[in-house]
Amino acid sequence: MFYSLASSSWGPEEINAIQRVVDSGMFTMGENVKAFERDFAKYFGMKYGVMVNSGSSANLVAVASLFFKKDRPLQRGDEVIVPAISWSTTYHPLQQYGLRLKFIDVELDTLNIDVGKIEQAIGPRTRMILAVSILGNPAAVDVMRKIADTHGLYFMEDNCESMDAEIAGKKTGTFGLINTYSTFFSHHISTMEGGVVLTDDMELYHLMLAIRNHGWTRDLPEGSPVFDKRDDDFFEAYRFILPGYNVRPIELAGAIGREQIKKLPGMTVQRRKNLAHFQKLFRGDDRFIIQREHGKSSSFCFTIIMNPQRNIDRKRAFAALKKADIGYRIITGGCFLRHDVIKYYDYEIVGEIKNANIAHDYGFFVGNAPTDLTRQIDTLREVLDRACN
Ligand SMILES: Cc1ncc(COP(=O)(O)O)c(C=O)c1O
Repeated sequence: MFYSLASSSWGPEEINAIQRVVDSGMFTMGENVKAFERDFAKYFGMKYGVMVNSGSSANLVAVASLFFKKDRPLQRGDEVIVPAISWSTTYHPLQQYGLRLKFIDVELDTLNIDVGKIEQAIGPRTRMILAVSILGNPAAVDVMRKIADTHGLYFMEDNCESMDAEIAGKKTGTFGLINTYSTFFSHHISTMEGGVVLTDDMELYHLMLAIRNHGWTRDLPEGSPVFDKRDDDFFEAYRFILPGYNVRPIELAGAIGREQIKKLPGMTVQRRKNLAHFQKLFRGDDRFIIQREHGKSSSFCFTIIMNPQRNIDRKRAFAALKKADIGYRIITGGCFLRHDVIKYYDYEIVGEIKNANIAHDYGFFVGNAPTDLTRQIDTLREVLDRACN
């Protein structure tokens, strides 16, 4: 494809890493996963990392762990504040654990939650704010963390789209009590499938180690605060303490992750160069609303919303992109409230959802990648210029 939505960021290092695992004959979660968790947590300056088989599973074990805290656990019926645009599995664990969602609109330019509306959404049963930085562009996670702390709420970041982004001199995905990442193919680093949760909280870390792996105690270190070990090795070897899952990653993913995390800073530099070129070509053209960078974006992709005031036919633009062999798709999952699955949710809408609907109806994104995309972005500009007259 001339300009695809995603492309591989692997080189010989990842292939060699795969070969080493194949040669070892040890495929199930082990030393490579452990080493990747350490490298990943270190890169982001957090204490603990738990790798799982996807970003979706990262959200699942993160939310689950908050239900099993000794102190002030989340409870069914508690409320969580969420943005109207994110991916489906940002929300599904919240529904599955019986939480009530309070949806807030996004800003049309950043595509992130309108933080000015959060205070009015907080009620007596509100327990958590779940922040999402959309497509590499930091949400105001610094502001949200302060609001959460002021009101005694948990603060969680679903940072699955924004690895290596920065705000206020700190990486997104490090502001939350608990923070999730995806390492799926199209993301900033790829382990084929994969996800990571980062936290500085030892109790949550231990809870997640158990929840990830059948709910058993086998992965918990000596002296863990989340269970009392008994003097019976036979029973302890298969001791279940939590209603967990099997969302373990495989060794191949861990080994690839170790190579990819070394390349992340360089890949982010290239993504930002591409972003700067895209911004230069599209900024100031009032037919197109492009994502306004807030902090330092790690630029997952480039979003374009057809200015609703300009009456541009998005279908015509799509046809032109198709003809030019340029991939495009909906912005993340669009406005989540527009999906059929919402009928299964307990939720309310705070204020009006206007911008998320505009993004849903008038927007799309094209890919970014850690390679030079100057030629592709130039063509994109020419194609849209012609198609949107
Ligand atoms: C915001 C967000 N959360 C969670 C996920 C799920 O990640 P995965 O595809 O690794 O399950 C995605 C996927 O892209 C996402 O964009």
